[in-house]
Amino acid sequence: MLIYKYDANVFMRVSSGVDGFDQLIDGGFRSNRLYVLSGPPGSGKTTFSAQFMTAGAAADESSLYVSMHETRDGIIADMAGFDFGFQAAIESDSITFLDALSSEGRRFFGGPGEKMDRTNVTNRLAGFINSREIDRVVIDSTMLLRYLFDDSDTTLMRFLTAIKRTSATTLLISEMTDPSAYADEHFLAHGVVFFHNYLEDDGMRRGIQVIKMRGTDTDTDIHTLSFADSGIEITTGKSVS
Ligand SMILES: Nc1ncnc2c1ncn2[C@@H]1O[C@H](COP(=O)(O)OP(=O)(O)OP(=O)(O)O)[C@@H](O)[C@H]1O
Ligand SMILES: [Mg+2]
Repeated sequence: MLIYKYDANVFMRVSSGVDGFDQLIDGGFRSNRLYVLSGPPGSGKTTFSAQFMTAGAAADESSLYVSMHETRDGIIADMAGFDFGFQAAIESDSITFLDALSSEGRRFFGGPGEKMDRTNVTNRLAGFINSREIDRVVIDSTMLLRYLFDDSDTTLMRFLTAIKRTSATTLLISEMTDPSAYADEHFLAHGVVFFHNYLEDDGMRRGIQVIKMRGTDTDTDIHTLSFADSGIEITTGKSVS
């Protein structure tokens, strides 16, 4: 008789779609886990996430993008300055876009009421991810969640725990201006990536830093992040052969 054993060492690595980033985290994100991307305004969180979903589309995977900041057309316009192929990916069936605050979003989350029913929001989203077998999820952002769950942190934690248990690899964008002000989601997530904007003598610099990545040999240095025509690129300083 064959006995199949669960082997915790067997997992997939999911490419971020961002040049230079995967090598900081041992080849890519471990699949089916929850990651938080934190950083100040304009530091590249949404662009990184758009590249992540576009890489999914290229690998024949499906993504769900839940946004409160932007309409579908708005995000397409914002990404139009890059040529990594976001528009084609979102116009194919690969990326499902959900504007949480639109009437469609309100219908999806269950209600014309002033505040959406919180249990409903959690169940609908987790149910959608599992039933549609969504591979990649982006939630842009925790500000959205704090709006939806305008009460205690407990509901937010319940929501994130439910998302953690889905079969998708999820990026949760979290606004953050003070890099030492950790929030609950940083502790709950499997991984945390910080985006930095900082001033140097010759002007503003951008960086990226992997703060934690459970189960992964991680490079935690701050690496240079730059915007190129092809999107965000990370310079790791390691020689590329
Ligand atoms: N070709 C380009 N097209 C669009 N934006 C570009 C381009 N090159 C550089 N950028 C910069 O990218 C920044 C936007 O990054 P992005 O929207 O990903 O940041 P964010 O961290 O999501 O910001 P926010 O917190 O405001 O949502 C802009 O401030 C813009 O200056
Ligand atoms: Mg953004």
